[in-house]
Amino acid sequence: MTPKKKLIEVALPLEAINVASAREKSIRHGHPSTLHLWWARRPLAAARAVIFAQMVDDPSAHPDIFKTEKAQEKERQRLFRIIEDLVKWENTTNETVLQQARDEIWQSWRYTCAENADHPRAKELFDRYKLPAFHDPFAGGGALPLEAQRLGLESYASDLNPVAVLINKAMIEIPPKFSGQPPVNPEAQHQKSQMDKSWQGARGLAEDVRYYGQWIHDEAENRVGDLYPKVEITVETAKERPDLKKYVGQKLKVIAWLWARTVKSPNPAFAEVDVPLRNVSMTLRHRCTLI
Ligand SMILES: C[S@@+](CC[C@H](N)C(=O)[O-])C[C@H]1O[C@@H](n2cnc3c(N)ncnc32)[C@H](O)[C@@H]1O
Repeated sequence: MTPKKKLIEVALPLEAINVASAREKSIRHGHPSTLHLWWARRPLAAARAVIFAQMVDDPSAHPDIFKTEKAQEKERQRLFRIIEDLVKWENTTNETVLQQARDEIWQSWRYTCAENADHPRAKELFDRYKLPAFHDPFAGGGALPLEAQRLGLESYASDLNPVAVLINKAMIEIPPKFSGQPPVNPEAQHQKSQMDKSWQGARGLAEDVRYYGQWIHDEAENRVGDLYPKVEITVETAKERPDLKKYVGQKLKVIAWLWARTVKSPNPAFAEVDVPLRNVSMTLRHRCTLI
């Protein structure tokens, strides 16, 4: 095989990738990548940029087309502009920007196929109509396989952690199966305007996830909601927690519950008071932490 130098081996517009990656952290609420908080998740912007730069040839690999260093640098700068557009959060689903990147990947791939036409396994390995597939064997939260799929590669993910496998199934395996399909939930089915809409990509599936997610939320609230009541902030509470003073009279949501087994206090002076006890199966009582 004749290797060609890839863009990532020569240079990257790091500043643009860093800025987009840092910004992404604060704006991707509600995106499928926030399905589960994966501690080692790579920013999608960085994942998209490195996959693109690994697939696209550096202009110095084509001295026949870019004859001087100046011409190579000019072409490199053009590729940098594509990356700079590609990493912007607003362009995550911008088909024009994505297609421009996919076209560059295809072009480099076709050069590779032409150069390796004499390879003994050329038919299988260098098919100019089929990009090589992408596999991340340590996929974790799935940033890399998700972005590889977005750039048009057939994407595979695996991991020894079943939670990571579930995240990857939900992000890259299941949505394409429902691509272009309308939602199936009864509410959408009864609205003609909804059914007449065109359901591009995974939008129909997203509508169903929203509908059934709300259903699960409401059911959970009905069945166990009484175990997690809101807590009223009283003047007493605010004395202990001055930061809650502005909430006096309001009912706040509790963000963390600590469950403890309790017994009546063995101290006769506090005989009616429940105190926490370890290792004894008694009534379950709760304590709460306020926002
Ligand atoms: C640094 S994380 C990957 C993060 C990922 N790139 C992302 O953006 O979320 C490394 C992953 O490797 C997985 N891993 C570690 N050893 C492994 C093994 N022997 N086989 C498969 N997966 C493994 C871990 O479970 C973890 O999810």
